[in-house]
Amino acid sequence: MKVVPGLEGIAVTETELSLVDGEKGHLVYRGHWAKELAVSRTFEAVVHLLWYGHLPEEKEERRFRDLLASHREVPESVLEVLKRLPLEMDLMSVLRTAVSTLTTTEDDISPRERAGAVLAMIPTLIAHRYHFLRGSRMPEIRRDLSHTAHYLYLLQGKEASPAHVRALEAYWILTAEHGMNASTFAGRVVASTGSDLFSSLTAAIGALKGPLHGGAPSEVEGMLEAIGSVEEAEPWIRKRLEAGKRLMGFGHRVYKTRDPRAEALREVSEKLSGEDPWFHLAVEVERTALRLLEEYKPGRRLYTNVEFYAAAVLRAVGLPRELYTPTFTLSRTAGWCAHILEQVAHNRIIRPQSVYRGPMPGN
Ligand SMILES: CC(C)(COP(=O)(O)OP(=O)(O)OC[C@H]1O[C@@H](n2cnc3c(N)ncnc32)[C@H](O)[C@@H]1OP(=O)(O)O)[C@@H](O)C(=O)NCCC(=O)NCCS
Repeated sequence: MKVVPGLEGIAVTETELSLVDGEKGHLVYRGHWAKELAVSRTFEAVVHLLWYGHLPEEKEERRFRDLLASHREVPESVLEVLKRLPLEMDLMSVLRTAVSTLTTTEDDISPRERAGAVLAMIPTLIAHRYHFLRGSRMPEIRRDLSHTAHYLYLLQGKEASPAHVRALEAYWILTAEHGMNASTFAGRVVASTGSDLFSSLTAAIGALKGPLHGGAPSEVEGMLEAIGSVEEAEPWIRKRLEAGKRLMGFGHRVYKTRDPRAEALREVSEKLSGEDPWFHLAVEVERTALRLLEEYKPGRRLYTNVEFYAAAVLRAVGLPRELYTPTFTLSRTAGWCAHILEQVAHNRIIRPQSVYRGPMPGN
């Protein structure tokens, strides 16, 4: 039996949700270019596309938006659990724990509505913890704002500018779905055992938390902070590569060309903060990193990935670094739920094998 470390190049299922073409740098959601959706549609419309198979008409979209808005309140019992968690627990662990406690909620709604309820509650969970740690008050939940506008409102206590809402929405659309990545696979494995949505999402959040997966954008910002100036970029990167370390925001298991999401997000962040010296530094670091990756890792085809400019967008809309991965979790929940629904509809338990290399018992 052949062992394929990291399951690289192995397809575990057929899907109608997305095409990730790593050679051409293409990302398609159910027949639509993700980058076009990012500039023309709302996050709700794209979630509808993923869950129901088509982009909604105006009326359908309004109904779906209202459905999500109606589930924004989190049960008091769950909020009480959150308050008792250790203060030093990071936000992703809090979110993972919170979603796992949702297993106790009512079971009398359709699978899509249940998915909508979790998606709607995640902003509230994040904002609740964020304010709790800062000793500030989370604003009253509203139903009149879009998912994106409401998230920024809950965190920032005031309505965000349309430019910020639009930028975050583009980021969320571009990161909502991405084929059989590690967290999606984790979620599908749990769903394939017949377990519930909340357990599947709990597993997915656990996987996304890792720095090689969803934890990268905050590390990108840390890297830019450590570099500090354009002059320092080359010596800093050389030192890191010579020490055999990785550059955050570069390389991808599937994309062997520029990640299309990185390109789209660079445009979004340039529009928002083209004049900001931080953005200028990011552009210079990217240029230097690509040159040096080619020098130190020739032929590995390492390019900028989505996380590099994700950091720039999230920073530009005013989110603090500790919220980067939780914010990514929110959009990816849409993709996870779509995969879980698909897995349940065509289920076969995911059960690969391992090859034993240990000793045999003696006679
Ligand atoms: C995303 C990632 C985990 C993909 O890993 P992978 O497909 O397993 O790639 P590999 O580990 O096989 O890497 C192939 C080679 O490129 C190198 N490499 C990969 N990403 C690198 C990076 N970001 N910086 C420096 N070198 C890198 C590896 O060291 C390896 O070199 P080697 O052939 O000399 O051993 C990896 O590129 C990475 O760690 N990137 C940084 C974290 C990040 O930005 N994650 C967000 C992903 S969207």
